[in-house]
Amino acid sequence: MLKHPLPRLDKDEELRNLLLPYCRLHYGEIWKDKKAGHRVICCDCTDKDLLSKLFENFNGKLAIHDPPYNFNAFQKYDENGFYNWCKKWIDITYLFLDDNSSLYVWLGAEHKNFFQPFGIFLNLMSETNFKSKNFITLRNQRGFGTQKNWMSVRQELLYFVKGKPTFNIEAEYTDIPKTLKGYYKTINGVNTENFERSKSTNIRAGNVWIDIQQVFYRMEENVNGCYAQKPLKAIERIIKASSNENEIVFDFFLHSGTTLIAAEKLNRKCFAVDIDPVFCEISIRRIEHFRNNGKTGWQNSNPFYEEIMSNKKIKNYLKSKYKIEY
Ligand SMILES: C[S@@+](CC[C@H](N)C(=O)[O-])C[C@H]1O[C@@H](n2cnc3c(N)ncnc32)[C@H](O)[C@@H]1O
Repeated sequence: MLKHPLPRLDKDEELRNLLLPYCRLHYGEIWKDKKAGHRVICCDCTDKDLLSKLFENFNGKLAIHDPPYNFNAFQKYDENGFYNWCKKWIDITYLFLDDNSSLYVWLGAEHKNFFQPFGIFLNLMSETNFKSKNFITLRNQRGFGTQKNWMSVRQELLYFVKGKPTFNIEAEYTDIPKTLKGYYKTINGVNTENFERSKSTNIRAGNVWIDIQQVFYRMEENVNGCYAQKPLKAIERIIKASSNENEIVFDFFLHSGTTLIAAEKLNRKCFAVDIDPVFCEISIRRIEHFRNNGKTGWQNSNPFYEEIMSNKKIKNYLKSKYKIEY
């Protein structure tokens, strides 16, 4: 069991209101990091004017977006509404990307609804100036499903490009040793075995990533209070492959701050957006926590631990509603 858990913050309006006074960004405000040049803005990612303030004269080399795609479950948008909403932030992404750059989008496919919004999103992308480049599957360790269907263990990641961006092939190698030997091919008249031809003795990740652990509460990188955290290793792989040091990587759906931490670790600058001041605050605290303690998350604690300890109202609320004792 976790020592100091924090429930999902998006689901509990009262708890959010208790934590809001501790959040440093109000809507439209930007946190500018003096140390590494990262920026976080609290705003809607379809607000072009505010995003112009975030970017000023800069452009990104890589965008990694993880939008809330579960629009049916949350009944926020119908299919047209989702298309129109995505179109706005995809157009803005294009605008703030360099001429030669990459875009990765995490998306879901609901099997009960003809795998939407996957199809809608692909249609939208086919009408833009981005070129499709790959469709990556990240395999989860845990799944969901019934006894009457294949278990769902996949996360979909789409890769698009604008122009001809960097692709650092070294980033693709996993820690998994190659086992296949004896695959011969004649190169320049010489018969070579696959190990002689290869750059590495480990296998390439390819477009099915099986070597990344899904985030769960016992991992150091876990951020309690968040509900949709992506594994740091996945974001680091993307950043290493599709950008170089000191370049700008941006993320319009920052949430737990995974892209921010990955960019910090890999000497890139992260420009990030989240509409929710609570998640902006969590992300900024996560990078501060990483700089102060070398930890990528709060395995046994949470980003608001200090405030909870000193605020009786929050403590009592957590105790009465969730039976969580601080
Ligand atoms: C699926 S989560 C992203 C998870 C993230 N990749 C991570 O690893 O933590 C989606 C985030 O998008 C934010 N969001 C939703 N609508 C938004 C909008 N219109 N503009 C900016 N952020 C938005 C939510 O507050 C939420 O934190």
